[in-house]
Amino acid sequence: MTKDLVSIIDVPKHVGEEVTIGSWVANKSGKGKIAFLQLRDGTAFFQGVAFKPNFVEKYGEEVGLEKFDTIKHLNQETSVYVTGIVKEDDRSKFGYELDITDIEVIGESKDYPITPKEHGTDFLMDNRHLWLRSRKQMAIMQIRNAIIYATYDFFDKNGFIKFDSPILSGNAAEDSTELFETDYFGTPAYLSQSGQLYLEAGAMALGRVFDFGPVFRAEKSKTRRHLTEFWMMDAEYSFLNHDQSLDLQEAYVKALIQGVIDHAPQALEILERDVDLLKSYIDKPFKRVTYDDAIDLLQEHENDADTDYEHLEHGDDFGSPHETWISNYFGVPTFVVNYPASFKAFYMKPVPGKLDRVLCADLLAPEGYGEIIGGSMREDDYDALVAKMDELEMDKSEYDFYLDLRKYGSVPHGGFGIGIERMVTFVAGTKHIREAIPFPRMLHRIKP
Ligand code: 4AD
Ligand code: MG
Repeated sequence: MTKDLVSIIDVPKHVGEEVTIGSWVANKSGKGKIAFLQLRDGTAFFQGVAFKPNFVEKYGEEVGLEKFDTIKHLNQETSVYVTGIVKEDDRSKFGYELDITDIEVIGESKDYPITPKEHGTDFLMDNRHLWLRSRKQMAIMQIRNAIIYATYDFFDKNGFIKFDSPILSGNAAEDSTELFETDYFGTPAYLSQSGQLYLEAGAMALGRVFDFGPVFRAEKSKTRRHLTEFWMMDAEYSFLNHDQSLDLQEAYVKALIQGVIDHAPQALEILERDVDLLKSYIDKPFKRVTYDDAIDLLQEHENDADTDYEHLEHGDDFGSPHETWISNYFGVPTFVVNYPASFKAFYMKPVPGKLDRVLCADLLAPEGYGEIIGGSMREDDYDALVAKMDELEMDKSEYDFYLDLRKYGSVPHGGFGIGIERMVTFVAGTKHIREAIPFPRMLHRIKP
């Protein structure tokens, strides 16, 4: 078939015209003289209607009946070239319908495992390669794409250079207990947990840099927020202070939400995401609260009727119920800043005059989506960094390159990393992170 094909998403430009669409039959219904096909082509879904008398009229008794019979017997997920006249249709959600005039089967599909009935999650995950075809999964992937696109756009507009960090690494970026180890020609190497340390070298070379790629964490957590392979965007910049860093992060997250509203509005509709609520996150300033103030607030409210979290002392880390409560309390994305140094990474710069707290921020998404960004100012003083590494009994020889950055023209700098799947989950309004990446890798899943 060498016809020019039209995408479903572009059908509105062709009202009244006869078009051919390369598509799959997502579902089929109708009886007697009429057949309804739910068509999908990856850009959108819409309905085609075939009416037996029209086929007989157009092609004559024999051929007309044969074509109509083909349509009647199409199995779910058969691929077809379907031709028809585009009509506006108020009753359909999409607003258009196809008055089918011809059909050509491309690839048969027998006993497609995912039927319109409800399936359990394990079954769907085992069939992830097919599950991706469903309406909701398609919408989530479109949102993911809009977020990635908006990321490149935002950083380009803000003077950042894309600077790719390596995936194979000789040392740990975040936490050595979470490393995937691999054999690198006889010496151990690790899969990157974050490109940050290398990105700091980039920030000293190019000023403002970002990377975007897969990172790996051998976390044994089995939660709806954890993957063992996920995609992180790290940004790093010289000469910014912490407040300016938070301003940048806030502008970035707002640009991502706006990017999805602009580039994937139909996906938000399919997912029934509250767009006015998303817009409110763009319009209102994000909240900034210190870790210690957040602990005070949690203590103050721990006996409220509608709260359900454990008591915390200053110095305790938040669990997810605490994070959820904090961001719900403020109703907007909330930066929790200045955590205790003891549970943050070695490279974070202390708060001036408060050495047991660090200049860092976690951005907590509202509606219970948890932490989406982790970032900080970096220790830029050579001696202070060496002292910290000694205190933690780290092997400094593993970090020669990182220490060099403090030896040759060190400057104040900071950065942050966003887990793209966490952001997708939040904007899409889906419950579980496993649906935010094409093929999730989790504690008990590495196939398909
Ligand atoms: O907070 P994290 O660990 O920060 C860093 O890795 C820094 N080096 C980033 C930087 O400053 N450049 O991770 C950053 C983000 C988290 O906020 C979260 O969104 C996501 O990565 N993340 C995960 N997402 C999915 N599954 C996991 N297991 C994740 N762990 C972290
Ligand atoms: Mg973190």
